[in-house]
Amino acid sequence: MNKKTIKDIDLQGKKVLARCDFNVPMDENQNITDNTRIVAALPTIKYLLEQNCKIILCSHLGRPKGEFKPEFSLKPVAKELSRLLGKEVIMAKDVIGEDAKSKAKDLKPGEIMLLENVRFHREETDNEPVFAKNLASLAEVFVNDAFGTAHRAHASTAGVADYLPAVSGFLIEKELKFLGEALNKPVRPFIAILGGSKVSDKIGVIESLIEKVDILIIGGGMSYTFIKAMGYDVGRSICENDKLDLAREIMEKAKAKNVELVLPEDIVVAKEFSKDSESKTVPITSFPADWEGVDIGEKTREKYAKIIRTGKTIVWNGPVGVFEFDKFAKGTNYIAKILSEVDATTIIGGGDSASAVEKAGLADKMTHISTGGGASLEFLEGKKLPGIECLEGK
Ligand code: 3PG
Repeated sequence: MNKKTIKDIDLQGKKVLARCDFNVPMDENQNITDNTRIVAALPTIKYLLEQNCKIILCSHLGRPKGEFKPEFSLKPVAKELSRLLGKEVIMAKDVIGEDAKSKAKDLKPGEIMLLENVRFHREETDNEPVFAKNLASLAEVFVNDAFGTAHRAHASTAGVADYLPAVSGFLIEKELKFLGEALNKPVRPFIAILGGSKVSDKIGVIESLIEKVDILIIGGGMSYTFIKAMGYDVGRSICENDKLDLAREIMEKAKAKNVELVLPEDIVVAKEFSKDSESKTVPITSFPADWEGVDIGEKTREKYAKIIRTGKTIVWNGPVGVFEFDKFAKGTNYIAKILSEVDATTIIGGGDSASAVEKAGLADKMTHISTGGGASLEFLEGKKLPGIECLEGK
């Protein structure tokens, strides 16, 4: 990485504003249901503690749209962080208000405080300069470790870097190392598995990866648009009829680039979109009208597994079926299982594929699971991420 990290500057005793992505899922009683992102921030926080820093953490949680809403408070995160660190995390009542300012002023070396949800201010998502300046005025150095939010040009992810020396934390460094190496110097064969519901959501990543991979496997809702583009019926499956030409162009491009584009041969179809709907497996050539595709079939599973086993670098983004319903999670779980067994570098894009791997209990078997859904997708698309661009160069 060509950006400075916390190892590249002297942080001894400094007051640091560290942006994390504590946007964690919670149940209706504000209990955190997955603390992965909090755990992922610990190496940076622990390093700042070792450097005797006065640590001011900040993050967003959900999309409260610029208003204070108690259900979007970061209080449960402060509690969880205290538990994980075995140390008090002081919770501020606001972001740049009197409480945050006075608590930031009184902070002693080795103390940690967490500001309230930065998205309680509309100025955060607007990347409003006065707000960014006020936020920056709380500290002497900005550390960005929020990889999951690095694709947003917001005040706390990018704007503050106009007013403070800005470096990355260890999480951003790690994410860029794994995602960057996979993209730029992959050990071959390099395989990408792309799922998810819409071609339109993934077009950027398909176009970028087609230039780099040897094999592109397509599954999930997106595959029905390709199947239809090949001239087959897809019943009531999710299908973007306005993207059929685009799907054909992608298939042509793959051929021209000698990239093997792999599509399902058989599909599990359901009578209705529900967790225990009647279902059956059909070849793509005889899709029943009035049924919808919900998973890859058994033949496809085996075909994909055989191909995946040949890979040396494998990137996976997006489930290949409706994995939220156990009955239709077989294809997605099978891919997770094969990836856990192969002798290859396995990179899981964040979001749904990360959840699928966690749910299958195979997270520790992967080389890297990204903490960013949208951010990892934009990185794979080859886009520049504002939360990284704003950091100081080495
Ligand atoms: C995420 O969960 O992908 C990040 O925290 C970004 O959240 P956002 O899409 O609300 O900006």
